Amino acid sequence: MLICVADVLSKSDVADFRRIMDAADWEDGRSTAGAQSALVKKNQQLPPDSDVSRALGRRVLSALTGSPRFISAAIPLQIFPPLFNRYAANDGHHFGIHVDNAVRGDHLTGLRIRTDLSVTLFLSEPEEYDGGELVIEDNYGSHDIKLEAGSLVLYPASSLHMVTPVTSGMRVASFFWLQSMIRDAHARSMIFDLDSAIQSLVERLGRDDPETVKLTGIYHNLIRYWADV
Ligand code: NI
Repeated sequence: MLICVADVLSKSDVADFRRIMDAADWEDGRSTAGAQSALVKKNQQLPPDSDVSRALGRRVLSALTGSPRFISAAIPLQIFPPLFNRYAANDGHHFGIHVDNAVRGDHLTGLRIRTDLSVTLFLSEPEEYDGGELVIEDNYGSHDIKLEAGSLVLYPASSLHMVTPVTSGMRVASFFWLQSMIRDAHARSMIFDLDSAIQSLVERLGRDDPETVKLTGIYHNLIRYWADV
């Protein structure tokens, strides 16, 4: 299931990120790629251990914790420190079809996670570049994703995906992985749908409506049943 979350970062935050990133040093994106993806990856990224990458990453994490839709969709247990990349048209940047590594370790913090979900947080407006679609393949076909700056997409890390060549302008993004408390994607999807329905009911009937209370209980009991924490 692909889930988009709009306006995780405000436009002024995005502008601040871009100003800081423009002034930073960049490196070849292959430094964090696995053996197969290194063959098809051509972009640049902020060095993952750099102060600027870590500081911006902490700001992304704090924005995520303030996003009920993100939390509801991901039910995160651990979020990998966010990384930052860019694709420039002049350098023929793109990222061919690949699957992300199943396990990611961060040697600075000692964090090690199973990558259940991949996330791309767009930091360029769609008008700033041509090409650069995130193409994700799932059982329903192939999906082209290009969101407004400040918005993100969550998708199963098990999906084949790619970034098409940027043919003009520059595509800037943050990307990261997370381990969900709910390992099973199907169970996680049902919990998300249930939560979305409950939120609609709460708006119509109020939080203290007896059926709403009962459904909220079922929501928590399903998480209790399925969660690994
Ligand atoms: Ni990837």
